[in-house]
Amino acid sequence: MRKVITYGTFDLIHYGHINLLKRAKEQGDYLIVALSTNEFNELKGKKCYFPYEERKKLVEAIRYVDLVIPENSWDQKIEDVKEFKVDVFVMGDDWKGKFDFLKDYCEVIYLGRTPEISTTKIKQELGHKG
Ligand code: CTP
Repeated sequence: MRKVITYGTFDLIHYGHINLLKRAKEQGDYLIVALSTNEFNELKGKKCYFPYEERKKLVEAIRYVDLVIPENSWDQKIEDVKEFKVDVFVMGDDWKGKFDFLKDYCEVIYLGRTPEISTTKIKQELGHKG
């Protein structure tokens, strides 16, 4: 079985997230999503609308996703790849090149982002419209 892992916040799930998760799953048979915890988001300077437990339920409900684990820090990736026997690491290409150090442990694939949609954009546009 080919295991795939991806990382992210996945707040206010939108079609860009679904496209990413669908294509991530197509890289193998089993998809793990490491979901940023509330504490880790704070560390990244990201403010989430939905707390971790709610985002976890939403991501778990997506048919492409087999397992959700917490992402607590920047440097857990090597340990996760080893622990879950991951074959492929997938990220959107906004991160292109940033995780190439994982190539010593598994395949690393950057997928093109879906244009013109992001959680930040949703928040900004709804904010402006009140
Ligand atoms: N993603 C994507 N296409 C988009 C938006 C996100 O492929 N239009 C991917 C990202 O590249 C990442 C994953 O979805 O691999 C989770 O991204 P996340 O940062 O949670 O979503 P964004 O909408 O980019 O959130 P933000 O605006 O807060 O950065």
